[in-house]
Amino acid sequence: MRVVVTDHEFPHLTAEQEATTARGAGFSVHNTRDEDEVVSITEGADVVLLAFAPITERVLRGLAKNATVIRYGVGYDTIDVEAATRHGVRVCNIPDYGSDTVADHTVMLALTVLRRTLEYDQTLRGPSNGWISAREIGEIPALSDVTFGLIGTGTIGRLVASRMSSFGAKLIAYDPYADAHTLEQHGIEQVGFDHLLEEANILSLHAPLTPETHHILDETALRRTNPGTIVINTARGPLLDTLAAAALTESGHLGGLGLDVFEEEPLAANHPVRQAPRTVLTPHAAFYSAQSLRNMQDYAAAEINRALSGQPLRCQVNR
Ligand code: NAI
Repeated sequence: MRVVVTDHEFPHLTAEQEATTARGAGFSVHNTRDEDEVVSITEGADVVLLAFAPITERVLRGLAKNATVIRYGVGYDTIDVEAATRHGVRVCNIPDYGSDTVADHTVMLALTVLRRTLEYDQTLRGPSNGWISAREIGEIPALSDVTFGLIGTGTIGRLVASRMSSFGAKLIAYDPYADAHTLEQHGIEQVGFDHLLEEANILSLHAPLTPETHHILDETALRRTNPGTIVINTARGPLLDTLAAAALTESGHLGGLGLDVFEEEPLAANHPVRQAPRTVLTPHAAFYSAQSLRNMQDYAAAEINRALSGQPLRCQVNR
C-alpha cells in the first residue's frame, strides 16, 4: 500500500507518516501542483493527501482500486469529485480543523478596514512621522450601527456571525440552502440576494466555490451595494471579481476590502488590488494558528488510518 502527499505547507508530517507506517504502507512526500507530475507521482497510490494540487480525472484514473483522496482543509474545488465517484475513489476533506481561526481572521479584517487602522498607522509611522486628527479620515460607523451581510452561513459564517453579534452589529444573510428558522436562532435574518446588497455595510463571503458562486459578487452586484460598503473575502478568491472590486474601491464606491483569498494564488505582483486604497490583504492565512495546524494533521492521520483499513471515513464528501 502507498500513501502519497502531493503538496503541503507543514514543517513536518510526523503524524501522517506514523499512521502510514503503522499500517505497513509506504509514504512519499512531494511538493507539486503540476498536473503531469501529480499523475506520475500518484500512479497506483492507495491514499493521496493534497493541499492545492489538481486531482483531475487523469490523476484519478491512475490511482489504486478503492483509493482515498484526503484534502488538507475545507474547500475541495481542485478535486474532480464527480470523476472520483465514477472511479470508485473516496474523497474527504477536513472541514473543522480551524473554523474558529478563520472566523477570528475574518472579523479582524472587517474591523481593520472599518476602523481605518492601516491609514492611521501609516500616518503615524510613515516617512513624515505625521499625526492626523481622528475625524480627518472621514466618518466611521459604530459597530452597533453596522449591518453585516453574510453570503454563506455554514460553520464559518455562523462563527463570524456570533463574533459580530457580540459587537452589536445587525446580521443578515443570503444562503439559498439555509433554513430561515435555524438562522434566526443564531440571530441572523435570512434575506434575498438583492436585499443583502441593498442593506449591508459590510459584505462577507463564506460560501464554497461552485459554478453558482463563481463571481457571485461581480461588477454588477458590487455596483448595487450601498456606497461605502466594505467587502471581506476569506472563502475562495473567485467568489469575488477582484479586479472590479479593486476598481470600485479606487473610485470610492466601495469603502474598502479585506481579502485573504485571490482568484490566482500567489497574487500576481502587478495585480491592481495591491494598490487599492482602504484595503487589507493577507496571503491565504485565515486558517493559520498553531491549534489549526495540529488539528489538521491529527485529523488527516486518523483519516489515513481509516482509509488504509477500509473503515468509513469521518468526512467523506462523495458516496
Ligand atoms: P460550510 O460548508 O460549512 O458552509 C458553506 C455555506 O455556504 C453553507 O451554509 C451553504 O449552504 C452555503 N452556500 C452554498 N452555496 C451557496 C450560494 N450559492 N450562495 C450562498 N451560500 C451558499 O463551509 P465553511 O467551513 O463555513 O467554509 C466556508 C468557506 O471558507 C469555504 O469557501 C472554504 O473553502 C473557506 N475556507 C477558507 C479558509 C482560509 O484559510 N481562507 C480556511 C477554511 C475554509
